[in-house]
Amino acid sequence: MDNLSTKVITIDGKNPTLKSQYLEVLSALHNSEIVAFPTETVYGLGAIWNDNKAIENIFKAKNRPLDNPLIVHESSVSRMRSYYAEWDLVAEILTSHFCPGPFTLIMKKSDAVQSLATAGLNTIGLRIPSHPVAHALIAYLGTGIAAPSANISGRPSPTNFKDCYEDLNGIVPYIIDGGESEVGLESTIVSWVNDKLELLRPGAVSAESILAVLEKHAIKIPLIEKKHVEEGETPRAPGQKYRHYAPKADVIILDGNTFDDKLRQIQMHRHNKSKFGAFISRAFSDYLHRENNPILMEEIVFEDNAYGSKEEAASHKLFSAFREFDRLSCDIIFVEELPQIGIGSAYMNRLERASEKK
Ligand code: TXA
Ligand code: MG
Repeated sequence: MDNLSTKVITIDGKNPTLKSQYLEVLSALHNSEIVAFPTETVYGLGAIWNDNKAIENIFKAKNRPLDNPLIVHESSVSRMRSYYAEWDLVAEILTSHFCPGPFTLIMKKSDAVQSLATAGLNTIGLRIPSHPVAHALIAYLGTGIAAPSANISGRPSPTNFKDCYEDLNGIVPYIIDGGESEVGLESTIVSWVNDKLELLRPGAVSAESILAVLEKHAIKIPLIEKKHVEEGETPRAPGQKYRHYAPKADVIILDGNTFDDKLRQIQMHRHNKSKFGAFISRAFSDYLHRENNPILMEEIVFEDNAYGSKEEAASHKLFSAFREFDRLSCDIIFVEELPQIGIGSAYMNRLERASEKK
């Protein structure tokens, strides 16, 4: 499917409601074409959820194993509900608190739901994107869009148009440019199957907030944290390990308690003839420049005080930084560890994955 000519459609996320802007993409989807589009987490590569010919093309375009299921994106909780075999109080509470937003709920699927998107499982994951362009697209389409992240398998998920275009230009017929994804990491995935609540992937909706919401409704069930279901991995064979979210460079986590410790970790690589990159906080960057850091590095800095918290600011930029360091041909990337507070757990999860040895 190489060497298609890719059409770019720009839709301003702040003013996204005119249906005329979507008509061409809507008819493409109805004609079994696949379309990359922005969401608040990362860009997705979508098709109508039960159009098997189109779904197959998504797997091909990404070079993704066919046994790795796709999340279906919907526009309301009542529509989301129609895909599941059953519905209960836990599902009601979780969806009413966290949808729309970066939250995917996996439950038993209804028998009527038949699609390659579920990869033969008897469960299905759904979420409602809060990004205004994604939301308008799904609402105008009137049915769900199955979509994995819009990267070639194994690469970091794209969180802006440029990164999406880098992977999919010439491979997909349409990309919607809707600016930067606000969150920057993929959605939290929770599975609620056979009375077991499991966190399959941490995201912006934290484990603490999920437990707090359930507790508020006097529901006391444990949330089992399983951090191994990721792209390229088969949920039925969780022992399998792949490297994910990975830039070409080796990723080294700076996990010292003080800036001094972190500087020492960088200096250990001083004699290496590598090209270095650093993804660090403004505060640490200022410190390095005061200390006259002797190692030349390409720096990408996140602001400690932007975006509510430094964990949010860093998460927003992490994947785009990985891709930028690749463009700069860095061999080693130093990345600052952050506390596992809120989205910090998801940030550290992606970082640990990226730092696994090739
Ligand atoms: O934020 C997101 O979730 C983004 C945007 C585009 O919505 N999507 C995304 O999709 O990250 P993807 O395919 O890259 O990651 C979805 C993960 C995969 O690891 C897949 O194995 C898992 O969700 N998954 C999907 N359905 C599942 C199911 N029924 N049971 C277990 N895991 C499932
Ligand atoms: Mg993915």
